[in-house]
Amino acid sequence: TDRTDFPALDAAPSARPAPVRPLELSIVVPTFKERDSVAELTARFDAALSGIAWEVVFVDDDSPDGTLDVLAALARSDGRVRYIHRIGRRGLSSAVIEGVLSTNAPYVAVMDADLQHDERVLPVMLAQLRSGRADISVGSRHVAGGGIGAWDTGRAKASRLATRAAGLLARAQLSDPMSGFFMVARPAFMSGVRRLSGQGFKILLDLLASTETPLRVVEVPYIFRCRAHGESKLDSLVIWEYGVMLLDKAVGHLLPVRFLMFIAVGGLGVFVHMAVLAALHGSLSFLAAQGAAAVVAMTFNFFVNNMLTYRDRRLQGFWNLARGLLAFYAVCAVGAVANVGIANFLFQAENHAPMAGNWFASGAAGILVGAVWNYAASS
Ligand code: GDD
Ligand code: MN
Repeated sequence: TDRTDFPALDAAPSARPAPVRPLELSIVVPTFKERDSVAELTARFDAALSGIAWEVVFVDDDSPDGTLDVLAALARSDGRVRYIHRIGRRGLSSAVIEGVLSTNAPYVAVMDADLQHDERVLPVMLAQLRSGRADISVGSRHVAGGGIGAWDTGRAKASRLATRAAGLLARAQLSDPMSGFFMVARPAFMSGVRRLSGQGFKILLDLLASTETPLRVVEVPYIFRCRAHGESKLDSLVIWEYGVMLLDKAVGHLLPVRFLMFIAVGGLGVFVHMAVLAALHGSLSFLAAQGAAAVVAMTFNFFVNNMLTYRDRRLQGFWNLARGLLAFYAVCAVGAVANVGIANFLFQAENHAPMAGNWFASGAAGILVGAVWNYAASS
């Protein structure tokens, strides 16, 4: 047939707009102080992922080292690069969750920025998921062909220990449940997203323990390379967060772990209070000693809560801390008034009321109300 009435179809290929392929793979990369790695990483994606419609989503927690300037320049020059800039928040897991939620790609990979994970494994993972054999493909250092570069024995030992603890939760036969390198089909991720604890470093384990039905897992070996630039953010508090995440998975459906931590810190505060009272009541009047003990205990509780209970949004800098401390004193003062007032109200109530005349139940109820108030207001 005569096609001259469709001139556009006969035009040179270069004159037509390039066909837009739907996005297939999104790589979510949490970053904190990775200025020197992100451009190199993006270039490596370009080399490793030819023929795949991919994007990368960096999620940066307001790095002070200029990472964001590098990311902005990358995103301006390459449409496959996006980034999310978070302010006032910290945390690898929560960054990953936000990155995944920001994309529509059917497959999502999670990878470190520091070039320790091997990007050449990504096409293998993608092929496994495309075949439908598995919901998630995990980069593993502990299957044949994998390894952990040059690790000191201390870290290797700690990692083995944490891996054993993880085995209890993972609900899957997995040689490396502590891996931070994996690819997941988006619906599989979404089936667990509402139950994720989002605390700390171990988003993979969190996910495996959170989905309604256990995920079908495959593993791919890779060798964990040494960090090229910058330094690891895995410090002792990250180990603490790992414990919190395990606890949350175990009991989080009953009570929020943050509340349990707040109560535990409050319990420590009782010891601090009594120690100060013991030290001072000889030299000061009882009232003055008790007052000093209360102030020291509240101050102690404030700093410990700021460091542990609210680590992901902790206050920093002298003025922020000073303001937070004063607010905490005020919260505790209101809590104490509520505690005494409610206990007294219950104790003095008319005879048929459940706690009337019962000093123990009334006192405990006052403590409970005061603690819940303190927790809610401090949050
Ligand atoms: N947005 C954001 N916020 N990113 C963070 C944060 C944070 O608070 N902390 C760390 N990151 C980023 C880093 O910039 C890096 O890209 C990645 O998360 C991993 O952090 P590293 O500091 O390099 O951790 P690592 O090398 O010690 O630990 C890695 O190995 C473990 C296996 O032993 C991580 O991949 C872990 O997930 C992995 O389990
Ligand atoms: Mn690293």
